[in-house]
Amino acid sequence: MTLQINSDRLWQSLMHLAEIGATAKGGVCRLALTDLDRQGRDLFVAWCRDAGLSVRVDAIGNLFARREGTDPSRRAVAMGSHIDTQPTGGKFDGNFGVLAGLEVLRTLDDAGIRTAAPLEVAVWTNEEGSRFVPVMMGSGVFSGAFGLDDVLLQQDIDGLSVGAELARIGYAGSQVPGEVPGGMFDAYFEAHIEQGPVLEAHDLTIGVVPGALGQRWYDVVVTGMEAHAGPTPMNQRHDALLAASQLVQRINQIALEHAPHARGTVGFLQVSPNSRNTIPGTVKFSVDFRALDDEVLAAMDQALQDSCAALMASDPRLNIAVEQVVYFKPCRFDADCIGLVRNAAETLGLANMDVVSGAGHDAVYLAAVAPSAMIFVPCKDGISHNELEDAQQDHLAAGANVLLHAVLARAS
Ligand code: HGY
Ligand code: MN
Ligand code: MN
Repeated sequence: MTLQINSDRLWQSLMHLAEIGATAKGGVCRLALTDLDRQGRDLFVAWCRDAGLSVRVDAIGNLFARREGTDPSRRAVAMGSHIDTQPTGGKFDGNFGVLAGLEVLRTLDDAGIRTAAPLEVAVWTNEEGSRFVPVMMGSGVFSGAFGLDDVLLQQDIDGLSVGAELARIGYAGSQVPGEVPGGMFDAYFEAHIEQGPVLEAHDLTIGVVPGALGQRWYDVVVTGMEAHAGPTPMNQRHDALLAASQLVQRINQIALEHAPHARGTVGFLQVSPNSRNTIPGTVKFSVDFRALDDEVLAAMDQALQDSCAALMASDPRLNIAVEQVVYFKPCRFDADCIGLVRNAAETLGLANMDVVSGAGHDAVYLAAVAPSAMIFVPCKDGISHNELEDAQQDHLAAGANVLLHAVLARAS
């Protein structure tokens, strides 16, 4: 009989964690470094202690629960994801990968199995990049993509810094990010809901993830001039919101021009002074570009810069400042680890297919420092970053079983 995780225990843990930040519509709002994030972290740490795991916290707040192996010379095989959510997030984005990892360790305990290599489950700080930029912050610091000191200074919309909030919730750890007992991880596996429609469309349970789209994020500030909405003639205005809206349309068009894999999204927009009878003087908005090829991402970047230049040329009183705040190339995961994921699915009799990730994940940064791979399971209607996010218990259990067997193969 092939070893299986305890599906009910995994589901109960997911539902218990989902109570922290639960929203009326059935979603979860647990923003990074808030009191709710602290409560979620405390719950996870308590579960780890109950499972006899040691817990480390690093200086950016990443958590590592460790289960020693029989061979102290082996480097750890890691699992993990994140427990911070979007403002209108769901129960499973990130939370599934963390609790599937914990369930793997609980299952090995129940079965009295001790792997040769140590095993760890990581909870990465601020994967979502919603409250604080950059996105995938904790895994980015761990892998050297971002400097710790720079990141600790990042502020949210209310001017609260990462460093201050990390200290306030009691998770400013002493561990140096990137240092692992016994050396950098031998491998990293992340289970995650697909957050898109592909697996459901093919009626399949397991996605073997070859890689993830590259991303470029920007902060754009359009500056025109406030003026009275009444006496100011239409041809004498320097309307920042009109210019910004033309850029929003153009950003969508740039993505469409690079179909089928390119993505372009403006998710955040602030108007100042935001008064119905004053022509907007300043507009700040975000840009999220994604593509499968780095050259396409560069072409999209150039198209955005050209559009801004053209708008400024049309009205010398308009200024458009574009700051790139996130960039990472399209990521390809490790062939051996991908093979272990596929073999595990086949061993378990689970039909599977390759699914490129449109979303960024901590595994993207882990792939820079350790052989990494991901396991996808379907979510209802492919919906995520939405309170309606939902997944089936049997699909989640199947993903956790694939994680279990991929990790066992690597760590034995
Ligand atoms: O933006 C992303 O792809 C991820 O949800 N942080
Ligand atoms: Mn996620
Ligand atoms: Mn997410």
